[in-house]
Amino acid sequence: MKTNGFLGRDWIDAELDYTREEWETLIDVGLELKRMHAMNQDQTYILKGKTLYTMFFNQSLRTRSTFAAGIQQLGGFHVDLEPGKTYTPARRGFEVPYKTERICDVAQNLSRTGDAIAIRMYGEPAQWIYGFANASIKEFAHYSDVPVINMECDKFHPTQSLADMITVKEKFGGFKKRKFVMSWAYSGSTHKPYAVPQSLVLAPAKMGMDVVFARPKGFELDPEVIKKCKEFATATGGSFEETDSMEDAFKDADVVYPKCWGAGDYFAKADANGKKIKDEDLDGMKVLFDKNTHWICDAKKMKLIKPSGIYMHCLPADRDMEVTDEVIDGPQSVVFDEAENRLHAHKAIMAMLMGGRL
Ligand code: CP
Repeated sequence: MKTNGFLGRDWIDAELDYTREEWETLIDVGLELKRMHAMNQDQTYILKGKTLYTMFFNQSLRTRSTFAAGIQQLGGFHVDLEPGKTYTPARRGFEVPYKTERICDVAQNLSRTGDAIAIRMYGEPAQWIYGFANASIKEFAHYSDVPVINMECDKFHPTQSLADMITVKEKFGGFKKRKFVMSWAYSGSTHKPYAVPQSLVLAPAKMGMDVVFARPKGFELDPEVIKKCKEFATATGGSFEETDSMEDAFKDADVVYPKCWGAGDYFAKADANGKKIKDEDLDGMKVLFDKNTHWICDAKKMKLIKPSGIYMHCLPADRDMEVTDEVIDGPQSVVFDEAENRLHAHKAIMAMLMGGRL
């Protein structure tokens, strides 16, 4: 049963579905759990005996390790259900007998025995159809009686954006009048979803920051996301701008977040039943990528940001492509603070949604 407040709710399109005040609460809870952890205070009473099921359809280092460590630190257990070793959850029309199991059945099974289900799915397992993975996670949520947590889909990465907002709050004390730049950056891999850039324009816009979105032509985001960013900016007194110049965007920034993603036109489209109506041409993206190898975060561009400004990246970063070693290993880089804050963000989400006692 999913209720108002935090208890029992899902965390899927969290930048859209949770209010700014709820984000503030989660940020504060994350920081409190971080403080308790640093003081070696017991937290095992918070989710004592609760079970988290995780399901990773894609690779992961940070998300996997911090959800596993986090639930254990809160007194619960973690069971990793490896798709392929379980019957792979599938939507109607995408099933293979005795290899897959319909999502409605998997979700009802798991919510009889566990206390939350966390899922990562994008790209190949979702056939590179934009929105397919997001819809699959929502189908889980529809049939689950326990919270479903999006650990990155093809639209959003809201556990990352919460950790990043915790990091911004730690570094600057707040959000107002701070310029946050989400920028495209070049990578040798074209197979990267929109999840991080979409979450990392929405979350800072929701928190009232002055958000600048920089990308070369062809790398625009979902227009619905951009529309929401503008609405958030109006509601909070922040601002939202788009540019095709990385240099212009970086000028006087407090935060720069240069990160690669694929180009929208090359993702497959689907009909109302989820069937492909256009084949993806992900390799065709390479030509567009190779025109933009100069979109790298280097020391020269970092000179444009404020001296107190910071470099952020969700990791893994493609060194020498997205960013130079000098920048990512330099004094303005906070990438390992962000990675550490994944732990505290995930613990805050689990504690609040799974009925923890703080
Ligand atoms: N940033 C992030 O989600 O890292 P992983 O892919 O390692 O989980």
